Amino acid sequence: MNTIDLVELGRTFTGNCDKPTLLYQDDQHTIYWLGVPEISAFRCNTYLIIDGKEAIIVDPGGRGAFEFVKMRVTQILAPEKITALIVCHQDPDVAASMVDWLTTNPAIKIITSVRTNILLHHYGKSNYSFVNINENPLYLFESGKKLRFCEAPFLHFPGAFTTWDETSGFLFSGDIWASIDLEWRLVVEDFVRHEMKMNLFHLDYMASNIAAKGFVSSIRNVAVNAILPQHGSILPKKHVVKALEYLQNLKCGLDLIYPADPPSYIPCQVGRN
Ligand SMILES: [Fe+2]
Ligand SMILES: [Fe+2]
Repeated sequence: MNTIDLVELGRTFTGNCDKPTLLYQDDQHTIYWLGVPEISAFRCNTYLIIDGKEAIIVDPGGRGAFEFVKMRVTQILAPEKITALIVCHQDPDVAASMVDWLTTNPAIKIITSVRTNILLHHYGKSNYSFVNINENPLYLFESGKKLRFCEAPFLHFPGAFTTWDETSGFLFSGDIWASIDLEWRLVVEDFVRHEMKMNLFHLDYMASNIAAKGFVSSIRNVAVNAILPQHGSILPKKHVVKALEYLQNLKCGLDLIYPADPPSYIPCQVGRN
């Protein structure tokens, strides 16, 4: 049972990124928000799940963020104790610091999809222990607690996936439900206002309504207690149903670029000289 009320946490949060913020805690299992290194509209969240001796970073971040994230981890445990990274897709703001974490501890496991893993090698390290979420959609902690990986094709990468922590019910959603926001809050209060901030990201990045609806349908049996995206604010339980409806009804990407059926293509401008 979580001892943290996320709605209350959002109301009292002062914006302090000098220390990790506890989001979930029970006897054996804790989850932290490690803060954001940059004050910008496009803030990148990094999370840490600790279960017994295992410590997994979700969305570790870019190389420029590494020292910041490492400092936050050090306030909780030695960085060498990090056992795995969950990398929901290969974008540099999610994944690039994996090479720094592998330097810190070469035994760190990289938990990701096959399509993501192929591209991760281009950051400069390929000799690591790869946990394939497509073949192993369940991750079992030594305690017996579980993570479930839910594939999210084309939201926005073909090999993108989300991670549901069974213990907390938290869904680490990567770029899904991400928002762009100068008046950022840790936890969403007003969902209607927040929709506009999610639109700024989703309309351009997410592939189509078919992809969005397909994902919503694939997680219909997952009991989500909160949504923790890689950008923007956390959605507490009271907003989860509305967040699912938002995605179900989302028109984005190809729906907007090619609204007609069959699509009317705009000819590419070709120089005449
Ligand atoms: Fe991305
Ligand atoms: Fe992202």
